[in-house]
Amino acid sequence: MSIFALGMFLGLLFSPYQCLECPPGCECFAVTHTVKCVSQDLLRVPQRIPGFTRTVIVTGNNIHRVSPNSFTDTGNVTNVILSNNRIVEMESHSFSALTNLRFLDLSGNQFALIHPEALSIPGSPLQELNLSCSLYNFTAVTDLTTALRWGGLRGLLRLDLSGNHLALLPPGMFSHLPNLKQLFLTNNSLVAIYSGTFSGINHLEMLDLTKNAFRTFGADSLLELEKLGQIRILLGNNPYSCSCEIRSFVTWLNESRAQLDLDGVRCALPRALSNAQLRGLSIQAIGCVVQVQAEVTDLSLPTSYVFLGLVLGFVGMVFLLVLYLNRKGMKKWIIEMRDACRDVLEGYHYRYEIDCDPRLGHIPSDNSGSRTQGHLRLALSQQLPNDTCIVQAPTDTKLK
Ligand SMILES: *[C@@H]1O[C@H](CO)[C@@H](O)[C@H](O)[C@H]1NC(C)=O
Ligand SMILES: *[C@@H]1O[C@H](CO)[C@@H](O)[C@H](O)[C@H]1NC(C)=O
Ligand SMILES: *[C@@H]1O[C@H](CO)[C@@H](O)[C@H](O)[C@H]1NC(C)=O
Ligand SMILES: *[C@@H]1O[C@H](CO)[C@@H](O)[C@H](O)[C@H]1NC(C)=O
Ligand SMILES: *[C@@H]1O[C@H](CO)[C@@H](O)[C@H](O)[C@H]1NC(C)=O
Repeated sequence: MSIFALGMFLGLLFSPYQCLECPPGCECFAVTHTVKCVSQDLLRVPQRIPGFTRTVIVTGNNIHRVSPNSFTDTGNVTNVILSNNRIVEMESHSFSALTNLRFLDLSGNQFALIHPEALSIPGSPLQELNLSCSLYNFTAVTDLTTALRWGGLRGLLRLDLSGNHLALLPPGMFSHLPNLKQLFLTNNSLVAIYSGTFSGINHLEMLDLTKNAFRTFGADSLLELEKLGQIRILLGNNPYSCSCEIRSFVTWLNESRAQLDLDGVRCALPRALSNAQLRGLSIQAIGCVVQVQAEVTDLSLPTSYVFLGLVLGFVGMVFLLVLYLNRKGMKKWIIEMRDACRDVLEGYHYRYEIDCDPRLGHIPSDNSGSRTQGHLRLALSQQLPNDTCIVQAPTDTKLK
């Protein structure tokens, strides 16, 4: 009896009775909470999607635009797949009603117009966004950059931008996706990674740069990759040109602690190295003639120092010789100098005693020698209180 009831129940679930509630052109599966509308030439996202629905699959149709009217009353939906629908425009708040949306697949469309708030959903529930093969041209890329910024996609973990002919990533494009873990940029036309490209993403675990147009990675690019830390970075299937310019990249591959797909990182050019694995290539193999020259200058550098030392030594010897030959004249000159100094110092000593005598402290400076000396003394007596001067002056002068 109970088996019969179960049979009735299952029969009801899969019977056409359920399909009465299903939008035209779609199939609804209550058990899997799924609605499927595949290749029906639909011109808009179907309305009146059953309340139990968690997954909406609308693919292969002819939907021009998604708007806030596309999804209403769909609070239970967590997955939306809208791939290959020739969608051109994404209006503001198109997915706002999908307050539990985790997974959004928009791949295989032709977005030419993405409004700045197209991806805004209250509560930022979105975790995965697939925009593979869906951006029409570079205007759409800059539109998307704005939408990622305004969308408040703080919960986004996975972003797929593969197959979009991207030649350039706007700086800071991902800076408002702080929790991004996986970034797919495969099958684009990227030639370089500029500094700041990945700024703001601090939890990245996987970066896929395969099948792009990289010929090498320059110092800036390598620094940007290095900043990502020990994450998984896929760099294979790029047309690497194994000339001397690739040297810093090879060194980086030799030493990097990131998890790399080294087996796929191979030379496309020159013909002699075609398909050779980049890591481990020797400097000679990539034809760095510069290195040989550097070795030569390395040798010549010490030689020039030795020569400089010899010259300085010779000059010193000549100087000493001249001093020796002139020793008599020098002695006379030194004695004269000493006498002159003594006279001068005694003069100073005398004047210090006068100056530092507190009783004479306020005598106008006109009384003593030249004007500049007067200024000097005036400045001195203004800076120091007279008693400190008394202590200092004699000890200094008695040194003679
Ligand atoms: C979501 O599902 C629950 C349980 O299946 C149902 O009660 C509720 O009405 C659904 N919500 C909507 C907006 O349909
Ligand atoms: C995104 O969609 C494309 C095409 O449907 C698919 O090949 C790819 O695996 C998807 N990306 C992810 C990360 O699942
Ligand atoms: C991209 O396509 C749109 C729509 O056709 C056009 O208005 C825009 O100028 C294009 N942008 C570029 C950079 O070609
Ligand atoms: C690469 O991108 C192009 C252009 O979007 C697409 O046609 C092609 O199918 C993609 N190839 C792969 C292997 O994904
Ligand atoms: C890379 O490492 C190999 C040894 O594993 C070494 O012979 C080669 O010179 C290194 N290449 C560069 C460019 O540092």
